[in-house]
Amino acid sequence: MAVQTSGDAPDNGGAAAIPPAAVPPPFRPGLEGVPATQSAICSIDGNQGLLTYRGYPLEQLAQNSSFLETAYLLIWGELPTIFQLRDFEHDVQMHRRVSFRIRDMMKCFPASGHPMDALQASAASLGLFYSRRALYDPQYIIDAVVRLIAKIPTMVAAFQLIRKGQDPIQPREDLPYAANFLYMLTEREPDALAARIFDACLILHAEHSLNASTFSARVTASTLTDPYAVVASAVGTLAGPLHGGANEDVLDMLDEIGSVEGVDSWLDRAISQKQKIMGFGHREYRVKDPRAVILQGLAEELFQRFGHDSMYDVARRLEAVAADRLGPKGIYPNVDFYSGLVYRKLGIPRDLFTPIFAIARTAGWLAHWREQLGANRIYRPSQIYTGSVERAWVPLDQRPAAT
Ligand code: CMC
Repeated sequence: MAVQTSGDAPDNGGAAAIPPAAVPPPFRPGLEGVPATQSAICSIDGNQGLLTYRGYPLEQLAQNSSFLETAYLLIWGELPTIFQLRDFEHDVQMHRRVSFRIRDMMKCFPASGHPMDALQASAASLGLFYSRRALYDPQYIIDAVVRLIAKIPTMVAAFQLIRKGQDPIQPREDLPYAANFLYMLTEREPDALAARIFDACLILHAEHSLNASTFSARVTASTLTDPYAVVASAVGTLAGPLHGGANEDVLDMLDEIGSVEGVDSWLDRAISQKQKIMGFGHREYRVKDPRAVILQGLAEELFQRFGHDSMYDVARRLEAVAADRLGPKGIYPNVDFYSGLVYRKLGIPRDLFTPIFAIARTAGWLAHWREQLGANRIYRPSQIYTGSVERAWVPLDQRPAAT
């Protein structure tokens, strides 16, 4: 008989002592406040409303940079030299086209389907066309980054035309990134101010630390799958109304409110019914989202140039009244509150707002893909089991009839 050597320790046949089980950390729904990675890409100060990409304040980037330069910064970690930027822009220009087979596949999608679903399927299909996987080959990484940044906008624009029964138009190599997207969407070369403001919108949406879609991208990346699957999984996550999908819902909400006079009573009713106000609130911010501040300014620039939008008056009144009612809880406008008004003024259909968010956020997802590969460990959190204790299987004829 084995001799128990100390206190309550189980008999393990003389092997080395089994370390006591670690006490699990407390359960935090939604992983609130739980660090799930280390990252050098983006910092957020949610009390002061400060956001930086690789240490550069967002305001400076939105004012001075271009989306492609910002994407380069996010993905490679430093602002590019003039030659690096020229090469990156050129490479992206050269890879904008998508295979006719992807366009044919998109023609089989139901026209009534949501463009985010079309984008997720098309992004995933890139993995079929570029199936070589060499995750630690620097050239493979460059090729994948260029392809995804170049082709995602083409696929969004292509589905827009296809669902209207038209053939997609080819990208224009002579147009910059944002202008080319608006051209592919509208079949018209855009006004220079509209293109600049759209480019700034892409910068504002390019990255935002470990939000749900980026977390999804990192989890997918951690399995060492291909970058097309990483982006496709992130697109699917971004689509939900609590995340990227909120920008579409904001305009539906403003439509429902209808007028400045209707705001106060609408908000009272919504709060009393515990309804979420779309475009408000953020896990990271206790003040107005700095991206909302910039987007509001961009919206005003557009209104000055192309005419006022009365929906903006409704939005501003809602922000003012909500500051009294929700502000004390730290709930203020987030990035989605004013972005829809900008896109509406640019003539972009409502259900393309979230795909546009995805075009921009592809830069952030790819930055996190690279960072994840650089110090990879597969994500495999634990859970707290709340189900039944062990039960014996019951044959079908002995189970109680359904009531
Ligand atoms: N309207 C009214 N109350 C809100 C809102 C809102 N928009 N957001 C949060 N609250 C309240 C919520 O009811 C809860 O109150 P209580 O403690 O009394 O139950 C408290 O604030 C905490 O809310 P939560 O839902 O637990 O907060 P969260 O950090 O889990 O969720 C959020 C963050 C963004 C999902 C949430 O604020 C929300 O649903 N907002 C509306 C949807 C939206 O605008 N989403 C876009 C987010 S920004 C861009 C992006 O990430 O894509």
